[in-house]
Amino acid sequence: MKFVFTIFAVFAVAAFITSGCQEGSRLGRPREDETARRGRKTIAHYGCGSCHTIPGIRGADAMVGPPLEHIASRTYIAGVLQNTHQNLFTWLKNPPAVDAKTAMPNLHLSDAEAADVAAYLYTLR
Ligand code: HEC
Repeated sequence: MKFVFTIFAVFAVAAFITSGCQEGSRLGRPREDETARRGRKTIAHYGCGSCHTIPGIRGADAMVGPPLEHIASRTYIAGVLQNTHQNLFTWLKNPPAVDAKTAMPNLHLSDAEAADVAAYLYTLR
């Protein structure tokens, strides 16, 4: 019985320690893999926060466009595309090509940048 308890205690301690290793989890931010981490940097680089409020991005508190909080849980992107990974990528690559009247400009993200940014945005559930 004591042995079983010891095993349990070891696992509990191990789980506690490793849970603190995920970047952001201590700060209550979404968990990020490598792609999402690059996406976060790309978002900062392109200044998406000058138009959007985006959790986890320093200074991204503008209200020109819709807040991107919970973007992963939305049904539509910009009210026109089903919210799928492919469609979010398409939107990020060239918004005016999707909706000619949109106020979001084409920021000329590369394919890799758009995929990284989409990965970050999908951490926002
Ligand atoms: C000049 C302001 C501006 C900039 C810069 C900008 N956006 Fe937008 N964005 C908008 C506007 C306005 C909309 C709303 C578009 C619509 O509904 O037609 C939008 C919509 C979106 C949407 C869809 C949101 C929703 O609720 O469906 C996403 C995702 C998005 N932007 C991501 C980004 C990312 C990522 C960047 C940086 C690479 C960025 N935006 C830069 C203005 C901007």
